[in-house]
Amino acid sequence: MIAARLSRRDLMRGLVAVSVAAEAVWSEALAAAEAADGAAQVPSPFDFPELDVAPASETHHVAEGYDADILIRWGDAVLPGAPPFEPGRPDPAAQTKQFGYNNDFLGFLPLDGRPDHGLLVVNHEYTNGELMFPGLGGRSDRDGGFASVTREIVDAEMMAHGGAVLEVRREGGKWHVVPDSKYARRITAETEMTISGPAAGHHRMRTAADPTGTRVRGMLNNCAGGITPWGTWLTCEENFNGYFWSKAAAEPLTPEARALRRYGAPAEWYAWGRFHDRFDTLKEPNEPNRFGWVVEIDPFDPASTPVKRTALGRFKHEGAGNVVNGDGRFVIYQGDDEQFDYVYRFVTDGKVDPASREANRDLLDSGVLSVARFHADGTGEWLPLVHGRPNKDGQVWLTEAYGFKDQGDVLIHTRLAADLLGATKMDRPEDIDVNPKTGKVYLALTNNTKRKADRTDAANPRASNAFGHIIEIIPSDGDHAADTFSWNILIQCGSPAIAEVGATFNPATTENGWFGMPDNFAVDADGRLWVTTDGNSPRKTGRADGVWAIETEGPRRGASRCFFQVPVGAEMCGPCFTPDLETFFVAVQHPGETEL
Ligand code: FEO
Ligand code: CA
Ligand code: CA
Ligand code: CA
Repeated sequence: MIAARLSRRDLMRGLVAVSVAAEAVWSEALAAAEAADGAAQVPSPFDFPELDVAPASETHHVAEGYDADILIRWGDAVLPGAPPFEPGRPDPAAQTKQFGYNNDFLGFLPLDGRPDHGLLVVNHEYTNGELMFPGLGGRSDRDGGFASVTREIVDAEMMAHGGAVLEVRREGGKWHVVPDSKYARRITAETEMTISGPAAGHHRMRTAADPTGTRVRGMLNNCAGGITPWGTWLTCEENFNGYFWSKAAAEPLTPEARALRRYGAPAEWYAWGRFHDRFDTLKEPNEPNRFGWVVEIDPFDPASTPVKRTALGRFKHEGAGNVVNGDGRFVIYQGDDEQFDYVYRFVTDGKVDPASREANRDLLDSGVLSVARFHADGTGEWLPLVHGRPNKDGQVWLTEAYGFKDQGDVLIHTRLAADLLGATKMDRPEDIDVNPKTGKVYLALTNNTKRKADRTDAANPRASNAFGHIIEIIPSDGDHAADTFSWNILIQCGSPAIAEVGATFNPATTENGWFGMPDNFAVDADGRLWVTTDGNSPRKTGRADGVWAIETEGPRRGASRCFFQVPVGAEMCGPCFTPDLETFFVAVQHPGETEL
């Protein structure tokens, strides 16, 4: 994880840029005229010196005028008594006190309102055995029976999952993790959690270890997330299917096996099922149903029990971008990251109480989950996933006749329910975030090379979509709880220099400024979109993954600029500003993992 801090020199540069713009009498009229003439002529108040993109490098790079420092790495101490890191040696007990890795989401929660002192919450998405334990081989090498995987290796992998709460502080211009903080916490694949909401206690959630269906150990493959206005951390379980044995559990095609298959489970990416019966679906068929949820964690209380909020649905959650609606209800936008899967929205029944943290404790347990349908005319609708409710044509899909006895079934098998309603199959929905300035909602579609020409649609218009795109969703009348929305494509990604790619960056974008595979977002206080990418490489785009900053309004809408690049084989994640916009935290995920 890297904190890039604006230097004083750069702040000066920013002020200079703003004053130049003012001298140019940058009025609405001029801007409109310039838009007609070509956006490249319009001076921008958003004027950091663009980074020259590189195809591959052993280290990270940040735009000139910014400092980038490493804050914490895999194996560094999180809890008191953490032993020194010994790379290559599986040590589950040590790993429970040490930082995990493959960090996707970063959230900063100020302490005492301070921008230079707060809690940083971080997920630990997954482990790469081949990078952790030299000689072990990759996941696919282990398909033959995981012959060389020991109990210690499995347990070390389990302890490297989950997440961490860190207390961080900036002193003398540098950020550091506060040692032995009273807030410090490690959450692992064994941490006790509760299950709440409509699917809690459901017969499909019960196991031998938990006959109540209300308690579960651990969270798996947590990817991106969100921070609530009441100061909790939403962390989202994504590819939970990979942890379960055995593929034989998906045969024959019973209703349970059909549901497992819809989630790609069991995928056998890890050997956990050899040593822990709950990860063997033949022995514990309901355990996969207890993963794939959004988990709410109170980072201010390290003794608090994380809660899986089932009302938000079960799928391969990317993140939980959110907004307090004008009427006070809380709205969470969610992507299901799979080729041809869906975009969801959850609206609480109750309103956020800004005066009482306690009053919001279980706000996320009741509300309406909906899935998006994008129409070709630039409108769209949210289809409610509510048991027994007729759609606008009077048809009732979510009933026992179609396999849904109750709302618990709808939520546990969210993907199957969304299939029935006719939601739009998207090109891998990743982050979805709200612009605090305009209320517009941005949706990252990373890519989908499996989309054939005869399966394109207005919202996913490119066959074999290798580079992805960004959709802008505009809630009707500014109401994030409305049944309808309008939408457009902000950018089709890829190289603008290759006509067949069909990229649509603003022409002001330079050769450094374009990118492919948008993944995570941060929107700054001025409404600009900061995009981190997953999948750029020398072979695919001639550039490493990184951070690109995009203007979202005005004549330079869609103009993009490179700010930061990761080391080779890494993916860029976790964009997160401190409230004073002085610091930008990012996460460098799995350096060395992917091919060039
Ligand atoms: Fe963990 Fe969809 O990225
Ligand atoms: Ca992602
Ligand atoms: Ca990713
Ligand atoms: Ca990843």
